[in-house]
Formats: sequence, structure tokens, C-alpha cells
Amino acid sequence: MQWQSLSLFATPVIKMEIEDHEKVKAFFFEKINNKVEAATVKKQDSNITHFFSDTNVFNVYPELDWLREKIEEAATFAYCELLNFKKSKDLKITNAWFNLCEVGGVQVRHSHANCRLSGTLYLNTDQNTHIRFMHPLSCSSMHTEIFDQATQDPNPYGLKFHLPYFDVDVQAGDCLFWPSQVNHGYDANKTPDRLSLSFNLMPQHLNTVYQIY
Ligand SMILES: [Fe+2]
Repeated sequence: MQWQSLSLFATPVIKMEIEDHEKVKAFFFEKINNKVEAATVKKQDSNITHFFSDTNVFNVYPELDWLREKIEEAATFAYCELLNFKKSKDLKITNAWFNLCEVGGVQVRHSHANCRLSGTLYLNTDQNTHIRFMHPLSCSSMHTEIFDQATQDPNPYGLKFHLPYFDVDVQAGDCLFWPSQVNHGYDANKTPDRLSLSFNLMPQHLNTVYQIY
């Protein structure tokens, strides 16, 4: 039987390296250990804590301006050059927060609103650390949908259309960027003190018309 499969509309997750991430890890652990920002702590459950999730951690700590610049430079390259939004100009971080997750913690599936690009810089990891990205077509929608479940065995033709998600392994210094509407999360965490910095970004221009910054 003759057949051809067209893999249309890929979902990008871009990985870049951020140097000097060890300094950031030490900085955040020092803040956590000294409990200096207790008012900013949001506990999702007993195992996951978000710091500054209702503000922008870069506005709180000017010592991290160098990191903001590095992330915005990397994001601008990813968005304008790799994803081809060449008219949108520089990306700016609109909010950023850091996350501490203990063993057993679960980050429920979610996406980020009011932004174009989102990302995470991983700071404390081990061989088990990962993030799960959901297939856009596997997420529930607002319209009526007939659901069917594909066998999760490897496809004999090497195709991967049946996979509802991908787990991406990450290590300290990895900085991932993805379109903000892509659903993501992770199952029971196996990494003690899993530490990461997450952020949302918007471009300077939208659709060549709207000037945001
Ligand atoms: Fe997220």
C-alpha cells in the first residue's frame, strides 16, 4: 500500500543555554532559606511553592538585571529569528517568578495567558528532571468532541501522531521557550528541591500595528 504522511504545523519548544545559572541558583536558595519574601509565597500544595507569582521577580531584585537581559536577548532571537516574527522587535519579560518543588510535587497541566512566549530556566535539577508538553490536539476544547484513545505502543511506521504528550528532559542552565498557549506541567517530581525560574514575554509590536512598549 502506498502512503505518505505530511507532518504539518509543528509545535516549537526551543532550548538555549544560559551561562552563570549557578549564581542564580545560589541567589534564590539564599532568599528561600532566609524567608525574606514570605508575603510573596504562593503554595500550590504542600510540595510546590511559587515565589513572586503575582509580580515580577526582576522588579524586586535589580541584582538580577543581567539575567533579565540575557533571557530577553535569547527570547528575542527565538521569537524573531527562529519563529519568524521578524517585525515584532524585542521581547520583554512581563512577569517572572521562581518555583521550588519537593519530591512528589505535581505541576498540573496549564498554559499562560496575556503573553506570546513563555519559558523556564532550570536551576536545580538531577537525572529525573523533566517538563511535559501536551499535544495541542489532545487538550480539551470548548466544542463537542468525540474522544478516542490511541494505543501508546510505538507506531510500527515510526510515526508519533498517537502521543498525547512529550516529556522533555532538562538540566541546570537549560532555558526553554514555547508559545504561551501550549499546555504543560509534570507528574510526580522525583528531584529534591527542584528549582526553576519561569517567565512570560511580549514583543514590542503586535501585528505590525500595536506598540506595547
Ligand atoms: Fe507554566
